[in-house]
Amino acid sequence: KKISLTGIKPTGVPHLGNYLGAIKPALEMAQSSEYEGYYFIADYHSLTTIHKPEVLREYIYEVAATWLALGLDPSKVTLYQQSHIPEILELNWITSCFTAKGLMNRAHAYKALVQNNEEAGKDIDHGVNMGIYTYPILMACDILFLKSNIVPVGADQLQHIEIARDIASAFNYVYGDVFTLPEAKAQEGALVPGLDGRKMSKSYGNHIPLFLPEKKLRKTINKITTDTSAPEDPKNPDDSLVFDLYKFFATEEQVTELDAWYRRGIGWGEAKLELFNVINDHLKGPREKYNELMADKSQIDKVLVEGAERVRPKAAAFLKEVKKAVGVLS
Ligand code: TYM
Repeated sequence: KKISLTGIKPTGVPHLGNYLGAIKPALEMAQSSEYEGYYFIADYHSLTTIHKPEVLREYIYEVAATWLALGLDPSKVTLYQQSHIPEILELNWITSCFTAKGLMNRAHAYKALVQNNEEAGKDIDHGVNMGIYTYPILMACDILFLKSNIVPVGADQLQHIEIARDIASAFNYVYGDVFTLPEAKAQEGALVPGLDGRKMSKSYGNHIPLFLPEKKLRKTINKITTDTSAPEDPKNPDDSLVFDLYKFFATEEQVTELDAWYRRGIGWGEAKLELFNVINDHLKGPREKYNELMADKSQIDKVLVEGAERVRPKAAAFLKEVKKAVGVLS
């Protein structure tokens, strides 16, 4: 079986973008008998920015509960926490020695920080720790240590998968086919837009968290940017953030119906209510499950302990192979 693997950085309750871009497609792959699924919580990646222990702890549970609430079945696939697999970090050092510094300089996230600093007239590396700088190496190790074949991610992570391939190739060039080159599986089309039309992202504060209570979800959806046309004016569904989000959740029939209503003239209040209804219907069940899991975290703990038990022997065996290849182990 091919290995499919993906991770989420615990930086708060995952949002609709995470769900549509990665969680949903990854869980769909788990249904296919072609793949063996691995899902993880990238807690060491969060440590690059989150330095409050109790906050990080809670975020880890939030991501685990999200996976489980949305249907991940731990008896069929494996859910684990990155930091429970210390072998990843040994591999991190080894692969660092095969990663060109220039490759890290070109990584989008680091480049964006440097650019922000430049624009603000600050030192270019202001606020950049080495974890942020070498983030793509750790991510490569997440992928490579399990010999992953397919990595379902949103389009913003494609560069990271490319970097993982580059690192693996540089290593294999010296030692032979030790690493499996992973392939990304990104959703077609653009990233899921946020309230203001930019990519939905926690760092932009334009996101819709998955498990908001109904009232808050309704309020958040009302914040989506719309134009100032009058309620009875015809609206163009092909140029509407509200409609774009609607399409992700609605059935084909619902889309056709609402498309016609837009063209006849729909008030933005009504359009947003339709959007709320379709999202809320979709998430009602998972939200209840999520709240249950968060109320008694022992279930999550158990799943994560079992996940680590399944993954660690594989990690150890592969690390041994790598150590032998480089010559530190006979
Ligand atoms: P993270 O936690 O930022 O996001 C989790 C997943 O959600 C996708 N995503 C989106 N997809 C569509 N539209 C959006 N607006 C949107 N926002 C986020 C992301 O592409 C991602 O797939 N570095 C990763 C975590 C990670 C990882 C890995 C992923 C660490 N190691 C190994 C895969 C394999 C990250 O920060 O994702």
